[in-house]
Amino acid sequence: MIIVLANTKGGVGKSTLAVHIALWLHDHGLSTAFLDADKQLSGAQWIEEAEPAIPLRTARNPDDCLDACERLQREVACVICDGPAGLDDVSRSLMLMANLALMPISPSILDLRSVTEATSILRYAQRIQGDRLQGALVLNKMRRRERISRELARAVPQLGIGVASSVIRDLQAFRDAAQQGTVVTRMNTRSASAAASDLHAFCDELFGDWLRDLGILKNEREAMGS
Ligand SMILES: Nc1ncnc2c1ncn2[C@@H]1O[C@H](COP(=O)(O)OP(=O)(O)O)[C@@H](O)[C@H]1O
Ligand SMILES: [Mg+2]
Repeated sequence: MIIVLANTKGGVGKSTLAVHIALWLHDHGLSTAFLDADKQLSGAQWIEEAEPAIPLRTARNPDDCLDACERLQREVACVICDGPAGLDDVSRSLMLMANLALMPISPSILDLRSVTEATSILRYAQRIQGDRLQGALVLNKMRRRERISRELARAVPQLGIGVASSVIRDLQAFRDAAQQGTVVTRMNTRSASAAASDLHAFCDELFGDWLRDLGILKNEREAMGS
């Protein structure tokens, strides 16, 4: 399984979610690797600090991406790819290898305008990959009381692309986690537990059934009986 975090825009939360999803899967017992295909390498540095046990590769061009994905897929069940901003060849090649493309979008006027552009790369890859590539928008940095957040939530279902129904709120703990080289699910503050609960709901929605099928997560009835 190859999961890519993609968006033509920077600052929407690709690296934040890539690192958090990788750690969530790893901590639930799924063998998971991380591929950082962004030149800034912020995801790679973060993962290295947070969990050295996660196999890590970096890639700077489409050939590197292909090589790294092929190698990592032989080692682990799931490869999380942190993509660059933009519509370049690296973004396209990641999309052409992925099984799942997650596109974080965050509430700003600019993001609202760029969603169509961001989704064009997903449509391009889906024309080639067909059903092998699933795509979903992820509402990140949401503020329930803010008008632009509500407008974004109202606008995205009309784009014709799946939207994760669990949203991730704008919470200081996500910024603190980056600074401390850890993830919100491993922190012990009130803000972190709110952030962790958003992340659990989101990851369970996306990966819960898969992990239960693999026997890694117990279903609720079994868990209650055990
Ligand atoms: N849910 C969130 N709540 C608060 N801050 C967030 C959240 N997601 C991301 N951020 C912050 O937004 C900034 C950009 O996030 P980042 O993951 O680096 O984006 P990208 O990889 O798309 O450029 C960082 O400062 C990060 O800490
Ligand atoms: Mg990034």
